[in-house]
This record gives sequence, structure tokens and C-alpha cells, in this order.
Amino acid sequence: MIDVGSAVEFTDPHIGRVVVPAADLQCRVRELGEAITADYAKRPPLLVGVLKGACFFLSDLARAIRLPIEMDFMAVSSYGSATHTSGVVRIVKDLDADLTDRHVIIVEDIVDSGLTLSYLRRNLAARHPASLEVVALLVKEGLQSAELDLAYVGFRIPPEFVIGYGLDAAERYRNLPFVAAYVEGVPPGTTTTLEQP
Ligand code: IMP
Ligand code: MG
Repeated sequence: MIDVGSAVEFTDPHIGRVVVPAADLQCRVRELGEAITADYAKRPPLLVGVLKGACFFLSDLARAIRLPIEMDFMAVSSYGSATHTSGVVRIVKDLDADLTDRHVIIVEDIVDSGLTLSYLRRNLAARHPASLEVVALLVKEGLQSAELDLAYVGFRIPPEFVIGYGLDAAERYRNLPFVAAYVEGVPPGTTTTLEQP
């Protein structure tokens, strides 16, 4: 877990209000790790991280699980560089692991329309895992058309575009230690200072 310090400053007008502070992220990820540790005690899971967004979530979560887990990664693309879904999901990098008879947990950064997740779930279920569950760090309220059956959820947030803790806007801002609203259409030259809470 990273130590964020008390007053990290970010001066970028695209970084809006903090939606989930760094301390809340770290605390909730620890709780999710404890829940998974309890639920999977007799069947250590294979964590499948969805790149790139879930990279920090997965690395923090994995260290909060006290079981001999394995990790693998998959990259899918459902967004271009814009902030709205294209509705098209494409596997950019597939898993190395064979999922047959494994207890698989998909580790997702954020569920927006739910299209990416329902595609992934169908795709991985077809590989005959012993069980298949999902842990999603963030779920946007009210946007999913179908019930997604998420075993573990970090936070439910308002339906706005967010950045940080792995989430990007056109590949930037992934390394913010908190989750913030993304501010579009800021006039050039505008500056704001954001104090880490
Ligand atoms: P969905 O298919 O609409 O549920 O979109 C899921 C994927 O889109 C996530 O795994 C993210 O990679 C990306 N995404 C959705 N909402 C956001 C956001 O607010 N910020 C950054 N990426 C997002
Ligand atoms: Mg994602």
C-alpha cells in the first residue's frame, strides 16, 4: 500500500472534485481482501485483472488477500480515447492461464454500462472454471441494463466520468492515488490546485 502523504498537490484543471479519497480506497481494498480471504480459504483463487484500469486495484487487493493466490491479466478495449463507450469489446491481450477447474475472480476497475463485464463473464465462463465471480472497485449508479451479479463491490458512485487509481482519460491520470471527477472542456491556461484530503 502506498503512503500518499498529507498534502500531495495536483495542479491540473482537468482534475475535479475527489470522489473517493486515497485513504478510503486503501481501507475498502483491505476489507475486500479480508472478505475474499474468508470466502476462498479452501480454494485459493486465480485473480484475473482487466488491464489497464485494474492495475493498481489488483496489486493492492492481491496484497490484502492472505491466501496463495495466482494472478493473470487480460486486456480488453471498450473505449477509445474518448469518455463514452463504443459498445464494442475486443480482447487485446488474452490470459496465459488455463481456467479449467480454477476458482476465478475477475478484478475490474469500474462498471459503467456493464457491457465489458458481461462480455468478459461470458467469455471466461466458456473456459470451464470451477467458479467465476467478479470484484469491481467502482460501480456507476443506475447505468447497467442487466443485473450483473457482482460478488464484491468497492464503492457505488454517481454516473460521471472519473479518473485516478488506474482510471484514465486518454491514457492520463491513472497514477493519481485517489479517484476524482474528470473536468472536460477546461479553457487552456486555467489552473487549479487540489489538496489531497
Ligand atoms: P462499460 O463496458 O460501459 O461497463 O465500461 C467499462 C470500462 O470502461 C471500464 O473497465 C473502464 O476501463 C472504462 N470506463 C468506464 N467508465 C469510466 C470512467 O468513468 N473513467 C475511466 N474509464 C471508464
Ligand atoms: Mg476496465
